[in-house]
Amino acid sequence: MSKTAQLKLDDKDYVLPVIVGTEGEKAIDTRTLRATSGYIAYDQGYGNTGSCESSITYLDGENGVLRHRGYPIEQLAMHSNFVETAYLVIYGELPTVAQRRAFSDRLRQNAAIEPQMQAIFQGYPKDAPPMAMLSSMVASLAAHYPQLATNDFEKDLQNFDLAAGMAISKIRTIGAMIYRYQRGLAYIPPKDIPFCDNLLHMMFSELYQDYVAVPEVARALNTLLLLHADHEQNCSTSTVRMVGSSAANLFTSLSAGICALSGPLHGGANTAVMHMLQSIHDEHDDGTRFIAAAKSGTKSNRLMGFGHPVYRNFDPRAKIIGKACDEVLQKLGINDPLLEIAKNLEQAALKDDYFISRKLYPNVDFYSGIIMRALGVPVNMFTVIFAIGRSPGWIANWREVAANPKGRIYRPRQVYSGPVKRDYVPLAQRG
Ligand code: ACO
Repeated sequence: MSKTAQLKLDDKDYVLPVIVGTEGEKAIDTRTLRATSGYIAYDQGYGNTGSCESSITYLDGENGVLRHRGYPIEQLAMHSNFVETAYLVIYGELPTVAQRRAFSDRLRQNAAIEPQMQAIFQGYPKDAPPMAMLSSMVASLAAHYPQLATNDFEKDLQNFDLAAGMAISKIRTIGAMIYRYQRGLAYIPPKDIPFCDNLLHMMFSELYQDYVAVPEVARALNTLLLLHADHEQNCSTSTVRMVGSSAANLFTSLSAGICALSGPLHGGANTAVMHMLQSIHDEHDDGTRFIAAAKSGTKSNRLMGFGHPVYRNFDPRAKIIGKACDEVLQKLGINDPLLEIAKNLEQAALKDDYFISRKLYPNVDFYSGIIMRALGVPVNMFTVIFAIGRSPGWIANWREVAANPKGRIYRPRQVYSGPVKRDYVPLAQRG
C-alpha cells in the first residue's frame, strides 16, 4: 500500500498522498489541500516546495551528488563534452553516433546571426549590460523565427529539434557578438569547427588572423560549460518553466531565464569572487584579514564563492573545476596571483572551525572566474558564459513542461498581509 501523510486541522483529519522519486526523495502531495481544507501550504521562496516532477537532474545537496539523467557529473566531466552532455540533458539518453552527428550538424547550421538580427545591436549603447543585450536578443529570436515560436505547444514541439539546436548555437554566437560589440569590433561569423573552439574564434579572432584555441583552452571551456549544463530547480530554470507553463514558446521562455540569471544572487557570484580576490590583492592581504572579517557574520563581508543554498557537504562541480583551473593555468604558463589568493583562502577556510561547523565549502563559482580570466574572458562577460552553459538545462525543462499532457499553468498562491476591506475616500476628504 502506498504511503500517506495525515494532517489534523480544525479537528478534521486529512490524508495526503506521498510521492517518492526514483532516488527515494519524498514529498507530501498538497495539491488538494486548499480545495478540501481551505488551507494552502506556505513556503516563502519555495525552499521546501517541489514545483514539478522532473527526470532531468538529480541533486543531493547533503551528500554532494549531481547527476544528469542518472550519469554522475564526475563521469560526464571526465569522458563527455558540452555538446554531448547538452544532448543528454535535453533528450534523456547519450546520443548514438548518428544522433550525435545530426545534433552537431544542427548546431553548426544554425550558428550564424542573420543581418537583420545583427542590426539590432546598433540600437544598444556600447556599454549596455551584456545580460540585458543577451536576453533581448534571445527574445528577438521569437520575432525572427515565428514559425518556431507559435505559442502553441503542439506546433512548437513539432519544431523542437530545430528550435533547441538554434537556441544553443545562437545564444553562444550572440554571446561572442556582445563581447565584440562592446569593443567596437566587427561580427566574426562562425566556422565549421567544434562548439567551444567556435566560441573562442568568434570572440577573439582578428580581421586577418583567426584565433586558434590550444586544445587545453578549448577543453577548459568545455568543462566549464558542461558543469553549468543544468542544476535542477534553480531560480532561472524555474523561471523558464513558469513562463513556459503559459504556453510561451521556447525562445521567449529562455529570454526570461536569462533575465533571472542576470541577478547577482544567481548568475553573478563568480563576478563577486573576482572582485573579492582583486580587492584582497590590491590591499596586499594574503587572505588572512579577509577570513577574519568573513567570520564576523555580516553579509557584506562573506567569503564569496563559499557556501551554497543546496550543497551542505561539498559542491561536486567545485572539485572538478578547481582541478581544471590548475591544468589550464599550468598549460598557459599563467601565474595568476588571484589563484594563489584563492588557494590560500580555501586552505585557511577549510581548516577553520567557523566554516567547518557551518558546512561552508567552495562552490563552483570559486574557481570558474579564474578559468575565464585565464581564457581572456572579461569579468562583465562571466554571466553570459554561464548562460551559454545553462541553455541545455533550460531547454530540457521547457520541453518537460510543454510535453506534459497533465501540465497546468504555474500559479502559486499567497498569504495576503495587506489592509483588510475599507471604503474609498474621495480626494477632497484626504487632506
Ligand atoms: N562567508 C561567511 N559566512 C557565511 C558564508 C560565507 N560565504 N555563507 C554563509 N555564512 C554563514 C552565515 O553568516 C550564517 O552564520 P550564522 O549561522 O552564524 O548566522 C551561516 O553561515 C549560514 O548561512 P545562511 O545564510 O543560512 O546560508 P544560506 O544557505 O542561506 O546561504 C549562500 C547560502 C547565499 C550561498 C551563502 O553561503 C553566501 O552568501 N555565499 C557567498 C555568496 C556565493 O558564493 N553565492 C553563490 C552560491 S551558488 C548559487 O547560488 C548560484
